[in-house]
Amino acid sequence: MRFISVKNITKRYGNVFALENINFEVKEGEIFGIVGPNGAGKSTLIKILTMAIKPDEGEVLIYGSDFKNRKKVAKKLGIVFQETTLDVILTVRENLFFHAILFGFSSSISKNLIKNLASFFNFENYLNMKISELSGGTRRKVEIARALLHSPKVLVMDEPTLGLDIESRNQLWSYIKELNKKNGMTIILTSHYLEEISLCDRVLVLDSGKMRFLGSSKEFIKNFYGKV
Ligand SMILES: Nc1ncnc2c1ncn2[C@@H]1O[C@H](COP(=O)(O)OP(=O)(O)O)[C@@H](O)[C@H]1O
Ligand SMILES: [Mg+2]
Repeated sequence: MRFISVKNITKRYGNVFALENINFEVKEGEIFGIVGPNGAGKSTLIKILTMAIKPDEGEVLIYGSDFKNRKKVAKKLGIVFQETTLDVILTVRENLFFHAILFGFSSSISKNLIKNLASFFNFENYLNMKISELSGGTRRKVEIARALLHSPKVLVMDEPTLGLDIESRNQLWSYIKELNKKNGMTIILTSHYLEEISLCDRVLVLDSGKMRFLGSSKEFIKNFYGKV
């Protein structure tokens, strides 16, 4: 059974082709980057990949499930969309707790999950603070922690490092690497920072909804920068 495959995806908004004929597969255990400038179609692709919206043409298969079986897919994916969906007037703990309860965990299991994730991401000291009081980097960590509450096999993130300073970006990448290397989690993420290509195993480069490159990050760097 194929792991994640995206076949001939096309998505139009009016006359604009947000995505045109996109084809790729993601392998289990890799860090797969979707890179491109603003308006390239990254967020549209993430929404289609996570089955939040339907493409005009083509299909996505995740562990053999298609759009009709997207409820099954939801259990396998942890998703962080580009726009924050944390409740900014609630505390970190409350945000995580409500989400865990929604996933059907008991109160004591939820508390335990929150404790472990807060320790992994090093935000134990912020658990009682409101989201609105956090720095951008800490917010992003909480958002990722929330996506991991149900122990998904695949973590999908739309521009997780957008707007963060260099130090917070590096820190976030060290967590991403750790989740991937130590826990064997498959990571799919988008970025418009070209330098983040080198941190991925493979990349899809998008521009104006079209595939410009698909291959290993080493190949990309060799072809476009003449060095590895
Ligand atoms: N809901 C929408 N309605 C109309 N146009 C949209 C919508 N979402 C995206 N687009 C258009 O599709 C193109 C790709 O957008 P998007 O996927 O958000 O790109 P990126 O995430 O790479 O910045 C852009 O031209 C954008 O304006
Ligand atoms: Mg986007």
